Amino acid sequence: MSEMNSEKGEILEVSHVNNYYEDTGLGIFAKRQKRQVLSDVSFTIHTDEFFGLVGESGCGKSTLGNAILGQLPFEGTIRVGGMEYSKSDRRKFTEKVQAVFQDPMSALNPRMTIGSTMREPLRAHNIGTREEQIRAVNDMLEKVGLDASYADRYPRELSGGQRQRVCIGAALMLQPELIIADEAVSALDVSVGAQILNLFHEIDAGADFAMLFISHNLNVVYYLCDRIAVMYRGTIVEIGSAEDVYHHPVHPYTKLLLAAIPDFTSRIEDDGTGTLADIAKANAQFEVRNEDPEGACCFYHRCPYANSECLKRPSLTAVPTTDSEEHRAACRLAAEQPSAQVDEKGSVAEAFQSTC
Ligand SMILES: Nc1ncnc2c1ncn2[C@@H]1O[C@H](COP(=O)(O)OP(=O)(O)OP(=O)(O)O)[C@@H](O)[C@H]1O
Ligand SMILES: [Mg+2]
Repeated sequence: MSEMNSEKGEILEVSHVNNYYEDTGLGIFAKRQKRQVLSDVSFTIHTDEFFGLVGESGCGKSTLGNAILGQLPFEGTIRVGGMEYSKSDRRKFTEKVQAVFQDPMSALNPRMTIGSTMREPLRAHNIGTREEQIRAVNDMLEKVGLDASYADRYPRELSGGQRQRVCIGAALMLQPELIIADEAVSALDVSVGAQILNLFHEIDAGADFAMLFISHNLNVVYYLCDRIAVMYRGTIVEIGSAEDVYHHPVHPYTKLLLAAIPDFTSRIEDDGTGTLADIAKANAQFEVRNEDPEGACCFYHRCPYANSECLKRPSLTAVPTTDSEEHRAACRLAAEQPSAQVDEKGSVAEAFQSTC
């Protein structure tokens, strides 16, 4: 895993990003309604850093990923390597940022051999002679744990894990500065997913790129990433080093995600706070509120600890209980609650046991 170093340059800057979808409704008299999905999202990713974005289904993770890729309109600013996406600079932009998605089969052209698929980015960007391109593809196949013989095969002749290796290799061909991996291991079974996670680890050691790793699984993100942002309803509710977020969570939603991991609460060190166990119990007894007042904390309707102070949305503020200035949470309780203590990092296999 790359060393986190805030003195390094920033490869991705996301600043005050909002995004809306329009619900069209049914029928000719249906009113079009704007629905906000991303709400004032800001964070940066440093060069070489692996950054995890975690949150439950529908919270807006892929929407953010697609906005960064220039595929969705949004308000605010997104810069990759200092550059904002524009259609006229599309070529230059794709050299900087590449993506790996959940379903490798739909990402690969079924009529193209693996070799042609992987050569395509080099061809499109006029990089090298034909022989050099073929050599680069063979080298990349080795790098992602396949070999040159796979170049002549078609996607249907590969397993799901091998296809995902091809997608990762294809994403790396242009030596991008940022890779967005959106649920890249979620569709794979436990052991194959673990191998792909290990592959990300291996290529991280030898390469020079940052990664935005999107997942609903906090264990997987913790295993791979230097820093983590937790998203709820399109808002970042907690952000910090992987150690801080996983070992010293402060936002009730982060704690809820951790408490939902099987056997996780029994792994909490007994430091007298019992915070995660408490929140798991509090949530089990808590009935989701019907009210969802405008301008309130995004977690208000589900939070057992919410009170009238939470009717005003809290901003991300530094958590005073941890040393790192980078640890921030959007909760009035952040300053008051003792953070939970959790035991050491689990194995890669354990990383897959949870489905938060
Ligand atoms: N093209 C679209 N038009 C309208 N609404 C959309 C569209 N795409 C996504 N949404 C809505 O935006 C919200 C966020 O979706 P998004 O796909 O970003 O979630 P996610 O966090 O990636 O979820 P998952 O973990 O299931 O992939 C959801 O409520 C979804 O229904
Ligand atoms: Mg998604």
